[in-house]
Amino acid sequence: MTEAVLRTENLTKRFGGLTAVDNLSLNLPGRRLHAIIGPNGAGKTTFFNLVSGLLAADSGRVFFQGRDITGLKPHEVSRLGIKRTMQIKSVFPQLSVAENLWVTRHATKRVLHPFRAASSDLETRERVEHTLEQIGLTALAQRPAGTLSYGDVALLEIGMAVISEPRLLLLDEPTCGMSPAETERAVAKIKQLARTIDIVIIEHDMSVVFEIADDITVMAQGGILASGNPDEISGDERVREAYLGRPEDEDYVEEAIHA
Ligand SMILES: Nc1ncnc2c1ncn2[C@@H]1O[C@H](COP(=O)(O)OP(=O)(O)OP(=O)(O)O)[C@@H](O)[C@H]1O
Ligand SMILES: [Mg+2]
Repeated sequence: MTEAVLRTENLTKRFGGLTAVDNLSLNLPGRRLHAIIGPNGAGKTTFFNLVSGLLAADSGRVFFQGRDITGLKPHEVSRLGIKRTMQIKSVFPQLSVAENLWVTRHATKRVLHPFRAASSDLETRERVEHTLEQIGLTALAQRPAGTLSYGDVALLEIGMAVISEPRLLLLDEPTCGMSPAETERAVAKIKQLARTIDIVIIEHDMSVVFEIADDITVMAQGGILASGNPDEISGDERVREAYLGRPEDEDYVEEAIHA
């Protein structure tokens, strides 16, 4: 078995009387695309916040590729190669698509190589071009980001995470708000990225989850309701009852699985 890219031990986060993440022990092996699903308020985004250092856990530990990263600050986690996109999208609207990527890349490089930031513009340009191809926005490189469609903004955000060459990418509902066509395009790109980057994706769209994921973790009330491959999850009675069980969803899930 490959070493876990991400592992948690008894991770817990409370907000007042509410336990958002409850004694969560997860083990996500590398080289697989993991999806986390679960109803609103299940603790999915809080889990990402704990991994990325945006929130401090009340107890428990987080390990990245075997290294204990519990309690590290967001920039320290980021420097180790964990990048994320947020549920609420944020790009620089006045800058072009390419400039957004350029600025992000430069910010990363200043951290990595403080004394030769300006010396490698050619390298940055190549990296920007490569990232534009990865996310499929080459044709829109010069467009101000503020004029992009919602789906293209989401792809740009993924590009801004990817351009710093992460080892682990955390995507929080990347297809939320996208049209079916935009979703299809984004899914294809994420699949391609997953060939070279470990990815954990939080996703509500079941057709996306069953198409994209190698492994699925179902969260509910801060804990793990079930985990397994898409077939196991779709056949799990408790998951059906707690999450997929609504009659109107069932056909949808069936369709998604057998598509
Ligand atoms: N900063 C915070 N302060 C107080 N409560 C919070 C905070 N962040 C999250 N919560 C609460 O913790 C619970 C888990 O929230 P979280 O955002 O992790 O859920 P989620 O699974 O990502 O849900 P969704 O699918 O709606 O995005 C919710 O009840 C939420 O209201
Ligand atoms: Mg969330």
